[in-house]
Amino acid sequence: MCGIVGYIGNRNTQEILLEGLKKLEYRGYDSAGIAVHTGDRLEIRKAKGRLAVLEEKLKDAPLTGSVGIGHTRWATHGKPSDINSHPHTDNSRKFTVVHNGIIENYLELREELSIAGHTFVSETDTEVVSHLIADEYDGDIVKAVQRAVKRMRGAFALGVLTEYEPDRLVAVRYASPLIIGIGNGENFIGSDIPAILEHTREVYILEDGEMAVLTKNSVEVMTIEGQPVAKDVFHVDWDLMTAEKAGYEHFMLKEIHEQPKAYRDTMGSRISPDGRRVVLPELKMTEGDIRNIRRVHIVACGTALHAGLVGKHVIESLARIPVEADVASEYRYRNPIITPDTLVIVVSQSGETADTLAALREAKRAGARVLAITNVVGSSVAREADDVIITWAGPEIAVASTKAYTTQLIAFYLFGLYLAQTLGTKDEAFIASVIAALKELPAQVEDILEHSAVLKQIAESMAKHSSLFFIGRGIDWAVAQEGSLKLKEISYIHSEAYAAGELKHGTLALIEDGTPVIALVTQEDLYEKTLSNIKEVKARGARVLGLVNRSNKDEVAKSVDELFAIPDTLPLLTPALSVVPLQLIAYYASLALGHDVDKPRNLAKSVTVE
Ligand code: F6R
Repeated sequence: MCGIVGYIGNRNTQEILLEGLKKLEYRGYDSAGIAVHTGDRLEIRKAKGRLAVLEEKLKDAPLTGSVGIGHTRWATHGKPSDINSHPHTDNSRKFTVVHNGIIENYLELREELSIAGHTFVSETDTEVVSHLIADEYDGDIVKAVQRAVKRMRGAFALGVLTEYEPDRLVAVRYASPLIIGIGNGENFIGSDIPAILEHTREVYILEDGEMAVLTKNSVEVMTIEGQPVAKDVFHVDWDLMTAEKAGYEHFMLKEIHEQPKAYRDTMGSRISPDGRRVVLPELKMTEGDIRNIRRVHIVACGTALHAGLVGKHVIESLARIPVEADVASEYRYRNPIITPDTLVIVVSQSGETADTLAALREAKRAGARVLAITNVVGSSVAREADDVIITWAGPEIAVASTKAYTTQLIAFYLFGLYLAQTLGTKDEAFIASVIAALKELPAQVEDILEHSAVLKQIAESMAKHSSLFFIGRGIDWAVAQEGSLKLKEISYIHSEAYAAGELKHGTLALIEDGTPVIALVTQEDLYEKTLSNIKEVKARGARVLGLVNRSNKDEVAKSVDELFAIPDTLPLLTPALSVVPLQLIAYYASLALGHDVDKPRNLAKSVTVE
């Protein structure tokens, strides 16, 4: 996820672009850059780091002109660096582009263009776009962009300028958001409404496959094939804060709703076109390295560790390699048995968590191979690990992690399948069936989100209690731990997650009349056992919410007070669905209690102290 802006008009372009980028920093903040047509040429300034670094650079060398584009980056292809920052240009430096999204066939295009004499300086997919447009240009930038776009596959929102046509700014939307702000004698583009809201409340919201040509006094919208499109003007009546959250009341709710897209993005091109194999070209580990793995340690903190608990089930079940999941702050001090045939998987949204980083270093020091699962390209964890799987969740702003956790699950599914296909522990038909079920998950999450109102009611009644319990067996217990953490951290209600069969060994003493218990019952082979545990708590007065699959709904209904059913999927994949209602229960409980959902007390988004 990146943010793009563009301006054409008579005011201070640099200032307008920078202001717009500030509003989009939530979309990424690895680096920033702007390009301005200064009257006789295109000039670009860009810098790694927060926007402030670029602003400092521009103090010494400001840009003046009446048309420009800007970008704030969330690194995807290529680490955060000055060179990889946008805007990108071609060898003639006459064309410049800002891009949000991923060009899936960029390697292919890069090869074709290299043969035709183009040379590339960055590791990005975006640089290819500026070269492609230069390649297609024959005097009309709009036609050149249309032809270039036809050669591209993937998701993109683009802002394009050429030195040859300083009176035109071209914008394209294809599966990445883009809006046009309509001004008076000036016009704007932006990834999102906040970028332009200070200047205008009249916008066109481009649809996939549409493009716009902006001059100071006109905006022409057409399809990328060139067919004119009559757009309705959308009048924005939200305030700025609401606009940054895309209309959601909190970032957490927005991020919960972004999960279907985040699942799709994380799976992305990692599934072969025929849906029968997982492809992880980013891994440097060879088949020999994989065959050499005798044990796996998963090390992480908090929510990331909870993803690791699911990861343990996934790897053990698919690849039959023994896995231990460990708290990062404990790992390095317990003298773990790490051998050269140990694969250590560190999981971290931020990639900067001090405990996780210390564990990674300890693992490397002891000779293990380290694989990182992280959401931040170029983070410390990503840089220091031997192999990296990036989760494409996009920036997560709310302190309580949601889409980062679920995309970590997707990463574990992909990696588990990759191990299985390499080791031959599962046959191709089985792998294809899991992939097919994985592809269903985004729509199934959408289905759950449609039932948010029921979960809100459940949460409001639970918020009246000072303590509650989550129970489950097997992989359900792993998810129960995440559900409990989510509730604690934002609602401040005490809760504990127990292996359903373990409750009777002591904790059952805490169950009294009306104690809420959330029982996860999604694993067919464990239904009966968990139902017995539900009966144990019911007999002590607990009020039980059963979190079940649609197919076992009727069976569990007889034993619980309330039910929430998730769509049916393979037993191993249920965590990617069952956690979503738990996220929503935590969210609505916090809301009911009037807490600061996005910034809970005592916590920080990235914990860089041990
Ligand atoms: C809880 C939460 C934390 C983090 C933990 C590790 O919602 O977000 O428990 O999961 O602090 O952070 P990362 O994943 O950045 O290493």
